[in-house]
Amino acid sequence: MVFFSGAGISAESGIPTFRDPLTGLWALQDPEKLETANAFREDAALVWGWYLWRRAQVSRALPNAAHQAIAQLAGTREVIVITQNIDDLHERAGSEQVIHLHGSLAQPKCFACHRTPTAFSFEEPNAREGLRIEPPRCPRCNGKLRPGVVWFGEQLPAAEWKRAVLAVKDCDVLLSIGTSGVVFPAAEIPTIALRAGAYVVHINPVQVAHPSNRELCLVGRATEIVPALLSLIGLPIDDRVERPVP
Ligand code: APR
Repeated sequence: MVFFSGAGISAESGIPTFRDPLTGLWALQDPEKLETANAFREDAALVWGWYLWRRAQVSRALPNAAHQAIAQLAGTREVIVITQNIDDLHERAGSEQVIHLHGSLAQPKCFACHRTPTAFSFEEPNAREGLRIEPPRCPRCNGKLRPGVVWFGEQLPAAEWKRAVLAVKDCDVLLSIGTSGVVFPAAEIPTIALRAGAYVVHINPVQVAHPSNRELCLVGRATEIVPALLSLIGLPIDDRVERPVP
């Protein structure tokens, strides 16, 4: 069983998604001005300040019932989580095998030499949205530090992508939770699973796929569906028939 998550799994923890019509980050901001290397070249303080604000949001958020149900299942079987999210809510819920395809807010890297500073502590725990904050400098080359995330137009980390594809090609079931499926190559993950013969279950308040014989959509919120679905898996066989998924 492999889980593939997007921003929607963290929505009920209070972290905004990107493309929800009214509340998504891209309804209020231009991704070209915040999530590209050019944006950082043009205004590093705006980009660094924005990510510190997002980091502050994540540090105030708590893993929700969906993150927790996935982590609890790992106590009974091997569970791999492939996430597009840069928050650490899967890890804070207790999941150990988490593959971040789009990097993480936890660890910056140097925009110039690409190295990751070893001992780094973030300042500005109360960064506000729109606050421009000059990024710190790389201790090795004095270049500007940037968030350790994948921006539009950048390659996904090769090792993580390879691990994710191997896991998906080997799984029986892929649960795709809270993603609009519009950003590639990450959005290819469910198709790779289907081509490899797995079943794919989409969990989203929006019907994001046309059901087929090995693909279905459970329409609803992650905290509503994921715990209910996974509780069935954790039960002895004879109990599962009695408890239809809501
Ligand atoms: N439970 C489950 N799904 C939800 C919930 C919820 N409570 N609330 C919203 N969703 C769904 C939305 O219907 C939408 O389909 O989560 C999805 C969020 O989609 P996006 O905002 O596009 O986020 P995501 O798919 O993760 O975006 C992929 O785009 O901007 C880049 O790098 C960014 O990793 C991100 C990538």
